Amino acid sequence: MTQEIPQPLPRVAAFEQFAFGLFLHWGLYSQLGLGEWVQSDSRIPTEEYAKLISKFTARDFDAASIARLARESGMKYAVLTTRHHDGFSLYDTRGLSDFDAPHAPAGRDLVAEFADACRAEGLAPFFYHTTLDWRLNSATCSETEFREYLDHLNASVEVLCRHYGKIGGLWFDGNWSRKADWQEDRLYATIRKYQPEAIIVNNTGLSAQGVAGHPELDSVTFEQGLPSAPDRRGWPKYLAGEMCETLNFHWGVAQSDFNFKSPAEVIQHLCACRKTGANYLLNVGPSAEGAMPAYESAVLRKVGEWISRYGEILYRARPVAVRCQGRDFVLREGTRYYYFAHDLRRKGDTHVVIGGGANGPRSMDGFPARVQAMRWLDENEAGRFCQSEDGRLLTLDCTGHGYGNDLIVRVAELCTQP
Ligand code: GLC
Repeated sequence: MTQEIPQPLPRVAAFEQFAFGLFLHWGLYSQLGLGEWVQSDSRIPTEEYAKLISKFTARDFDAASIARLARESGMKYAVLTTRHHDGFSLYDTRGLSDFDAPHAPAGRDLVAEFADACRAEGLAPFFYHTTLDWRLNSATCSETEFREYLDHLNASVEVLCRHYGKIGGLWFDGNWSRKADWQEDRLYATIRKYQPEAIIVNNTGLSAQGVAGHPELDSVTFEQGLPSAPDRRGWPKYLAGEMCETLNFHWGVAQSDFNFKSPAEVIQHLCACRKTGANYLLNVGPSAEGAMPAYESAVLRKVGEWISRYGEILYRARPVAVRCQGRDFVLREGTRYYYFAHDLRRKGDTHVVIGGGANGPRSMDGFPARVQAMRWLDENEAGRFCQSEDGRLLTLDCTGHGYGNDLIVRVAELCTQP
């Protein structure tokens, strides 16, 4: 077995530079405010559940403002649940089913609106599509019925690939629902035929994080878990990494879930993803009518403000194997290295300043180049450092946050000799 790391395909390399994306879970279930699994969890009979379609108005779904919010929050792609496990499609299934948004009071093709709005804001539109279907009993039906179901799934995906312009990718979820031959070759061939440059992801689920899967896939997934750095030596194909995560504890809106992450946690998780070169796909569940909830929107904007302080680094710079203390890490772009300092101490008058963290020297081992200058990017302030004779041991003077600011994670640029 070769120990070489394969080169990423151009589309995979481009996907890695997206860094941050918006996941949207929205559908009929949003009307019940108990998360996207409500039909299954509450054992709602299919016919009963289907009645929700009569109230699905999409009144407040404004794809343009969602896409703008995502862009302003530093996101480069957005993934919408075009169909979830309940079988309801936000797109015009063009005769495959009447359980779709054009047959609801909404009367619109919401996926078309989403795709157009994303592209208008410079975001890549991605389509989440479930591979299971509670309505059609895909998990428990006979083998013959299952093969018919796969024809239906394939035809559904073909609709998505043919009628919505250039899409960033297809994001599947649900193969964990049945041990079966999912005919992935056929499904992915359909995509490659109409959307040769689309990224294909198939979520391996909570219990199989970072598992590679079918050779046509472009990324491994980490659902609700910080990614580990992959060792790509000897892999037949270079796969990107992506962590998807809820902002509270649910994907679809859940009225009584107060378990929200703060902007600080989101920034830390984004950093933890970039430390391994992975993307961070952060989920929001819009309201029954499709509105973006206030708290979630505010968190995204705050994170966007943080990202804007560090410019393009988060997108372009890639991980380097330098051993740092704690959660700190280093990214590299060309001859520039970027040190991500976590848990800095706050400084200032003891009557106002509280809290932990630490300032002062932080060392890293295995630094590959000779540093010429250090500067904190946020303040454009020069920093002090020293480096061992052989260069491998590098120590930075990590100054803290003066009263008046706290950046959660602070980034220093290290310029090195070419
Ligand atoms: C899980 C859930 C699903 C959610 C998905 C997002 O697999 O079944 O509800 O859409 O994760 O990654």
